[in-house]
Amino acid sequence: MAVVIKTAEEIHGMREAGRLASEVLDFITPYVKPGVTTEHLDRLCHDYMVHEQQTIPAPLNYAPPGYSPFPKSICTSVNHQVCHGIPGERVLKTGDIVNLDITVIKNGFHGDTSRMFLVGDCSVAARRLCEMTYRCMWAGIRQVKPGASLGDIGSTIQQLAESSGFSVVREFCGHGIGRRFHEDPQILHYGKAGTGMILSPGMIFTIEPMINAGRREIRELADGWTIVTKDHSLSAQWEHTVLVTDEGFEVLTQSAGSPPAPLG
Ligand code: MF3
Ligand code: CO
Ligand code: CO
Repeated sequence: MAVVIKTAEEIHGMREAGRLASEVLDFITPYVKPGVTTEHLDRLCHDYMVHEQQTIPAPLNYAPPGYSPFPKSICTSVNHQVCHGIPGERVLKTGDIVNLDITVIKNGFHGDTSRMFLVGDCSVAARRLCEMTYRCMWAGIRQVKPGASLGDIGSTIQQLAESSGFSVVREFCGHGIGRRFHEDPQILHYGKAGTGMILSPGMIFTIEPMINAGRREIRELADGWTIVTKDHSLSAQWEHTVLVTDEGFEVLTQSAGSPPAPLG
């Protein structure tokens, strides 16, 4: 599958989809509190997407080869869940950390973004993991410019994560995105600087590092979707959809409620 270089018109559509995905996270933020179920968060997001935004929740019934259809409209991954957590009856409690991953389709274009949420009072260790993972995502984003390589992104993320004593999940990666949810290229969150595909203007892909407090190994639950850390250590993830511009990068999944980019 070849990498799609987006036209000006496609970039316009991707900007709108990206902003809308981010606005779902803005909308849901005040509801992420102790006592709420992940199913309730899913329902609120679903209704907001379908009825307020007129967007399509891309995860709902999404079924890549070898997977059963995803049964919900967002992914909710709590504590040692790495990604692809299925919303359900679980009640969030103080001290939990949760990733909400939103993908909307608007006019045929996908916007894909996720944030970490601290539920009530969280441990210093949990907060440090979430903050460092945010820094990792942004350090990767800041590598993006024409002429840079995919390895520059991966190695920057890996170095920052591992120098903080954390590990990088290898089995899941960022991805090209556009009219399809998952396109080429794969964006690894580890690797060697100066290796891999060279970036060109008009490429659009996600950067979405999954960083574990403990060991990097993962396992899949019997539901066929939820990924957890093998050692049950905490895991965090942040995701943005990014455009390669003539000058560098443009983050497409930003909105009024996006946390600011970190300094440095
Ligand atoms: N949003 C995820 C990603 O960042 C993919 C979720 S697939 C789903 O690529 F089916 F679990 F929703
Ligand atoms: Co993604
Ligand atoms: Co996502």
